[in-house]
Amino acid sequence: MTASASTIPNHIAIIMDGNGRWAKNRGLPRAAGHQSGFRTTRDIVEACARREIKALTLFAFSSENWARPEQEVGLLMDLFLRGLKSEVSKLHENNVCINFIGERSAFSKKLQQEMSSAESRTADNTGLNLSVAVNYGGRWDIVNAARTLAKQVKQGNMTPEDITVETFSSAVTLSNVSEPDLFIRTGGEKRISNYLLWHLAYTELYFTDVLYPDFTDKELDKAIEFYAGRQRRFGKTGDQVTGKHA
Ligand code: IPE
Ligand code: IPE
Ligand code: MG
Repeated sequence: MTASASTIPNHIAIIMDGNGRWAKNRGLPRAAGHQSGFRTTRDIVEACARREIKALTLFAFSSENWARPEQEVGLLMDLFLRGLKSEVSKLHENNVCINFIGERSAFSKKLQQEMSSAESRTADNTGLNLSVAVNYGGRWDIVNAARTLAKQVKQGNMTPEDITVETFSSAVTLSNVSEPDLFIRTGGEKRISNYLLWHLAYTELYFTDVLYPDFTDKELDKAIEFYAGRQRRFGKTGDQVTGKHA
């Protein structure tokens, strides 16, 4: 541990992967894996809130996941809608502020309404900031920000020179929270799968073979422990970070 490193990450971003394999290992349909993963999500949100983590961003459905069999996509949408209905009140009671990031026009009107109503209902909450990435793609996010800024330039509200890392950061999603400190991917794959491409520039990356339905709060603590052991240098030397100048 270094003096400047904080042991608890402010913002954790998770790729919840491995539901299908978890089910397959048990001879169950993939649906059972997603249902089990849903229960894990409930526990992880609670665990993060208890640990006073400020922001949690979860990858629930990628822009590439539409390529899955229609039945599985339908099931995920269904689970999502039912989950929203059953969980929002409790999240609200627990002071959680919910946001959805991603291109939502592709979802049913009903789902879009549920998302907006969950957001407005919890907007003033000051506890955990929970963002759920749905029909999300990191490239979409960057392109969308570029388009927003281009419109501003076209309207004469800013010049091309005003497009900086800072203004770009405010145009991508999650501009209301600090960048993720810790990224977690369950399920064994070591890839980003078009998740938060802009935001992960300096995030600590943690990969675990544990399949998402088995990702308990103990496993979360292992990831947090890993994070606590990192020295975040942001380009500096280790001695600069510890304050020891050779
Ligand atoms: C992650 O689990 C959940 C979603 C992508 C919605 P998977 O469904 O990708 O599980 P595996 O990777 O097939 O095991
Ligand atoms: C990433 O998982 C997306 C979500 C967890 C929602 P995938 O299982 O879709 O990722 P790839 O396709 O194996 O990279
Ligand atoms: Mg997967």
